[in-house]
Amino acid sequence: MINFERVGVIFPGNCHALRDVSLNVARGEFVYVLGRSGAGKSTLLRLIYADFMPTCGVVRIAGNDITFLPRCRIPYLRRQIGIIFQDYKLLNEKNVFDNVRMALDIYFFRKSMARERIWPLLKQLGLFELRDVEVKRLSGGEKQRVAIARALVNDPQIILADEPTGNLDSANAAAIMELLLRAQVKGAAVLMVTHDLNMPEKFPARAVHLDAGRLENA
Ligand SMILES: Nc1ncnc2c1ncn2[C@@H]1O[C@H](COP(=O)(O)OP(=O)(O)O)[C@@H](O)[C@H]1O
Ligand SMILES: [Mg+2]
Repeated sequence: MINFERVGVIFPGNCHALRDVSLNVARGEFVYVLGRSGAGKSTLLRLIYADFMPTCGVVRIAGNDITFLPRCRIPYLRRQIGIIFQDYKLLNEKNVFDNVRMALDIYFFRKSMARERIWPLLKQLGLFELRDVEVKRLSGGEKQRVAIARALVNDPQIILADEPTGNLDSANAAAIMELLLRAQVKGAAVLMVTHDLNMPEKFPARAVHLDAGRLENA
């Protein structure tokens, strides 16, 4: 599903964010991406949704080389990917329900049909009571759960999560892990960046380690 072949990223200022990274992630596979701050974890995820192109090497998604992807194809690529950003990227003036609804890949003419898709997810994430509240009024942990609902609502083939449990207490973190693992069982490839080494201990899965842009045990 995700294939990196000898990928390097050099940012202006000669910063080598990734060096010679090769990685394969299959459908239905869950992979932790570990490593200290600045190791290149977010850069790795950003390549997958074509936020920018690698300096060298090839990135393939579902067999397609995205290195030469025309700009107009990028929205189609991103529609297959659920992304939980480190800084959420929510619409603060909109309520919880609308933040999730605006991410739906299908435009439901009737609000009741959108509800059928969204309400069960909000319930699982403990957000149902907050569905009409503007996002700007929520706590950090609540915003994080909205970001997760938004990423999962289309049942994406690929889920990228950048520290999705960072602001959560252990009960909420476990609820999120369960949702991510359920998506994996349904066949999604899941990449989760985390600092929290308790997570791989509690929920064992394949783990790769980034150290100054180099990937170990890939
Ligand atoms: N847009 C950018 N321009 C220049 N340097 C960047 C940019 N984005 C990230 N970097 C640098 O690349 C390295 C890896 O960053 P990042 O992937 O965000 O690390 P992590 O997510 O593991 O903390 C860091 O040294 C960071 O400063
Ligand atoms: Mg990061």
